[in-house]
Order: sequence, then structure tokens, then C-alpha cells
Amino acid sequence: MATSFTERYGTWALITGAARASGLGYTFARHLAAQGMNLVLVDILQVELNQRADELRQQYGVEVRPITADLAFSDFMSVLVQETQHIEVGLLVCNHMYTPADTPKILDMDLATHHRMIDINARAYTTLIHTFGNMMRARHRGGIVIVASGAGLVPAPYTGAYSANKAFQIALGETLWYELKGTGVDVLVVVAGLMNTQGDALSKYPKMMISETDPVVTEVLATLGKRHMVIPGRLNKLFMFLQLKLMSRQQAITSIGSFMTNGLGKN
Ligand SMILES: NC(=O)c1ccc[n+]([C@@H]2O[C@H](COP(=O)([O-])OP(=O)(O)OC[C@H]3O[C@@H](n4cnc5c(N)ncnc54)[C@H](OP(=O)(O)O)[C@@H]3O)[C@@H](O)[C@H]2O)c1
Repeated sequence: MATSFTERYGTWALITGAARASGLGYTFARHLAAQGMNLVLVDILQVELNQRADELRQQYGVEVRPITADLAFSDFMSVLVQETQHIEVGLLVCNHMYTPADTPKILDMDLATHHRMIDINARAYTTLIHTFGNMMRARHRGGIVIVASGAGLVPAPYTGAYSANKAFQIALGETLWYELKGTGVDVLVVVAGLMNTQGDALSKYPKMMISETDPVVTEVLATLGKRHMVIPGRLNKLFMFLQLKLMSRQQAITSIGSFMTNGLGKN
């Protein structure tokens, strides 16, 4: 089945962090499978990943290759290259992330966790983008989606390390977009807001702020190839506008700080 997506990006997409049924990565997988794309799915959660792969095969009739890998491992790319050597990965969705659930302050989080976060959220993003981006540039076609967060544009206290990782992803993606203009490779940075992916973990935040993943993915895929950045959702756009355009940097961080204090139940 040829669709505008397969014509533009070929028939294979690779998505990281796609194992959880409620996660954004699996939503990307479902939408791309519906566009006729075959999928390479990468995640650390083996059982869940194989379940998602079976569901996608049954529901959409596409080919799915699940690869269980710890993206903190310095040599994870050799496994991915081996598993994808006979296919053209035309669309890369860097979506995985690691952050500790208990959201400690920066100095209270142990250094090994800081380093693991940098390995998974920054180093692995760089490795994936460098490897598949070079292959795409050589072929003069491809697409790279980088799932960052509003926390990368306005840093959020209590998730300071995560914010720093997300800021890294945004800077990498925005500059890459510029450098790849005219090469046939599209780059899109996603400045995601809160989404309903984490069960009860976001229960203390106002419900209106939490988006479902389907409209987010629809907006992201509709924007790919048209702009360099997308802030999905009207409320998310409004919040980013308030924080970035109407507040000083210090005011924005202070206001997010109290928002996080309440949302995470820190007081
Ligand atoms: N949900 C939100 O409100 C929100 C807001 C803004 C941005 N985002 C971004 O959206 C993206 C998707 O988030 P999500 O909420 O859908 O999260 P998610 O369901 O937890 O997806 C992340 C996946 O990556 C996996 N992962 C973690 N460490 C890994 C490693 N070392 N190697 C391979 N896989 C690993 C996770 O496994 P484990 O669960 O075992 O760690 C999980 O399956 C992330 O980049 C996130 O930062 C989310």
C-alpha cells in the first residue's frame, strides 16, 4: 500500500521507546502502521515490546521487528545496524526517555543516575541521529522526529536533569534541521506537553492540561516536512507562549517551580 508517507520516507520507520501500550511511541507505531509503514521498534522492555509487535502485525498487517536493547549501553548501535542492514530506515522517531519516578532535586539525585540519563536521553539520541541521519543524507531522503518537551524550552524544577536532557535534544534537532535543509531529509522537533501516558503519575496536575497521545501524533506527522518544530495542542501552545513571550526567564522558572511543587506533591 503506497501512501504519501511511504512515498516520501520509504517503507520502514524505526521508533524508540515503543513498548508501553499507553506510551507515545506506540501511538506513533499505530499511526505509521496505518500509513502502511513497516516498523523497527526498540525498547528496554522485552515482554511489552513483543506484545506491541504482535498487536501491530495483527491489526495492520505490517512487518514489525522488535529489538530489545538498553540504549544506555555504549555499543547498542551495532545491534541496531545489524538488524536493519537489509532494510532502508527512512523515518526515525527518537522517542525513548529515562527519568527517575521520584523526581529528586538535582543535587539529591545520585551521580550515576545523572550519567545514565545523559547516556539514554542525550548520548543515544546523538548516536541514533548520527547513524541513521548519515544514511538518509546519502540517500537524499528521510525524516527524523525528535520527541523533546516543553521542559527543554523552559526548565522545570524537580525535573532539572530531564529538562537539561530535553534542552540538549532541542538544540541538536533545531540545528540539524538547518544543516539538512535541501538534502531531502526532514527534521522535526516535538515540544510535547503533558500527555496521558503515565497512569496515575500525573493525577495531581489539572486534567485539562493532559492531552491524549493520538491528537499529538496526528499533529506531529502532519507537521513533518513543513516546519522545524511543533508544539502540539492548543493549550500547550498557549502555555509555551505565556512562558516564553510574556514572562521573564526568571518568572517563567519560578512559576513552573510552584506548578511542579503542587503537581508532584512536593510540599
Ligand atoms: N508523558 C508526558 O507527559 C510527556 C511530556 C513531554 C514529553 N514527553 C516525551 O515523550 C516521549 C515519550 O514519553 P512517554 O510518556 O510515552 O514515556 P514512556 O511510555 O515511558 O516511553 C518511554 C519508553 O522508553 C523506554 N526506555 C527507558 N529507558 C530505556 C533504555 N535505556 N533503553 C531503551 N528504552 C528505554 C521506557 O522503558 P521504562 O518504562 O522501563 O523506563 C519506555 O518504554 C519521551 O521522550 C518523553 O520525554 C512526555
